[in-house]
Amino acid sequence: SSCAWNGQPIVLVGLMGVGKSTVGRRLAARLKLPFVDADHEIEQAAAMTISEIFEKYGEEYFRDGERRVIARLMDGRPKVIATGGGAFINPDTRALMLRDALVVWLDAETEVLADRVRRRDTRPLLRGRDAHEVLRELAAKRNPIYAEAHLRISSQAAPHDATVRAIMKAIG
Ligand code: S3P
Repeated sequence: SSCAWNGQPIVLVGLMGVGKSTVGRRLAARLKLPFVDADHEIEQAAAMTISEIFEKYGEEYFRDGERRVIARLMDGRPKVIATGGGAFINPDTRALMLRDALVVWLDAETEVLADRVRRRDTRPLLRGRDAHEVLRELAAKRNPIYAEAHLRISSQAAPHDATVRAIMKAIG
């Protein structure tokens, strides 16, 4: 699909392991725009890691902080934002993004995502569980919601540069 980009923030959404941070950083470099990792901003604001926030205060508290951080980033200025996989699933956060940003869903098969996240896993939702099983459950619940994004781009193929080029092409 394609979609005219009017200079508003570009937000990457999609499941854990799909490459939102890597693709986002490279896309920003190509477009000469600032890059913001929303999960990192939340960690800075809380002075804690995401895992610590989940442990100490629970997921609901995290989602609220996530919504506030993302609301602050929806300031109309051109930038590329990578979000945590659950951000777009929160109805309030999703409404903000759909209104004020160009939302790009990065999508890949859960087998591919599981291989990617197993290598580097500090994520609270995966702790002590089989990554592929969790990702399959999340995909079943979340894919119909990610489908509300303005654009859907496959990140199935390595390397991520192919994904960056696909986004560049789609946004014109
Ligand atoms: C989450 C994804 C994580 C992080 C948190 C919750 C999710 O971000 O926000 O662990 O609900 O899918 P990544 O998608 O960058 O791993």
